[in-house]
Amino acid sequence: MAGGGWARAVRGLLLDVSGVLYDSGADGGVPIAGSAEAVRRIKASGLKLQLCTNETQATRADFVRKLRNLGFDVSVAEVTAPAPAACHLLRERGLRPHLLVHHDLVPEFAEIDKTNPNCVVLGDAAENFTYANLNEAFRLLIGMEKPVLISLGQGRYYKETDGLKLDVGAYMKALEYACDVQAEVVGKPAKSFFESALAELGVPAEQAIMIGDDIVSDVGGAQRCGMRALQVRTGKYSLQVRAE
Ligand SMILES: *[C@@H]1O[C@H](CO)[C@@H](O)[C@H](O)[C@H]1NC(C)=O
Ligand SMILES: *[C@@H]1O[C@H](CO)[C@@H](O)[C@H](O)[C@H]1NC(C)=O
Ligand SMILES: [Mg+2]
Repeated sequence: MAGGGWARAVRGLLLDVSGVLYDSGADGGVPIAGSAEAVRRIKASGLKLQLCTNETQATRADFVRKLRNLGFDVSVAEVTAPAPAACHLLRERGLRPHLLVHHDLVPEFAEIDKTNPNCVVLGDAAENFTYANLNEAFRLLIGMEKPVLISLGQGRYYKETDGLKLDVGAYMKALEYACDVQAEVVGKPAKSFFESALAELGVPAEQAIMIGDDIVSDVGGAQRCGMRALQVRTGKYSLQVRAE
C-alpha cells in the first residue's frame, strides 16, 4: 500500500473473522497461517482494529476467549457482533425487546430495558425454538400496533458435527408470514451493522477498510456504507476457487 494517498488516509480496519483469521470447524477452528501475526502488526502500526462477526450463539466475551486461545490478541471492545449491533439499534429507537435467543447470548442484552416489550428480537435459540416459545413471540408481535421483528441473522441452516440444523432465518420467515411483517435483519450485510462497527471503531467510513472473504456480505455490505473493502483469498474465496 506504500505511496498510495488513499492508504495514508486510512485510520481503521474492519476484519471479518471466519475465513480471515481462522477456519471454523467442529474442533473450534484453526488459525489461518500468518493471521495472528497480521493482527499484531496492524495494532503495532497504530491502526484501529474492529472484528465484524455474525456469531449469535455466544457472548462476545466467550468469542474473544476462543480467539485468544487460538493466539489472537483481541479484546471484547474490538468485536462487533449482531447482538451488540441490535442493542445499538434498540437504544436508538427506544425499543424494548422480548428476546427469543440462545441462552448464552442473553447477557449481551443486560443493559436493555425489556419491560412491556414493543418488539421481538430473534436469534439462534437452538433447542429453545419450541412451539410454546415461538407462539409466545407470535402473540406479542401480532398484538403490537406496529409489529417490529428484529432478527440477528437470516441463515437457512448450518452444519454441526451431528448434522444440519435449522437456522434463525427459518423461524424468522415463520413469524414474518404469520404476522405479515418484514423482519429487520442486523448482522452483515446490513448497513446498520457496519455503521455500528464504525461507531465502535471511532473512524468515519472513508477512513476505514473492510477485509473479508465473502464478496457479498463483507465487501458489498461495506462498500454500500461508503467504505473501501478488500477480499482475502482464504476462507470462502479459496473454497469457491477449488470448487470451480
Ligand atoms: C433453553 O432454555 C432453558 C431455560 O431457560 C435454558 O436453561 C437453556 O440454557 C436454554 N438453551 C438454549 C440453547 O438457549
Ligand atoms: C455468517 O455470515 C456468512 C456470510 O458472511 C455466512 O455465509 C455464514 O453462514 C454465516 N454464519 C452464521 C452462523 O450465521
Ligand atoms: Mg467470513
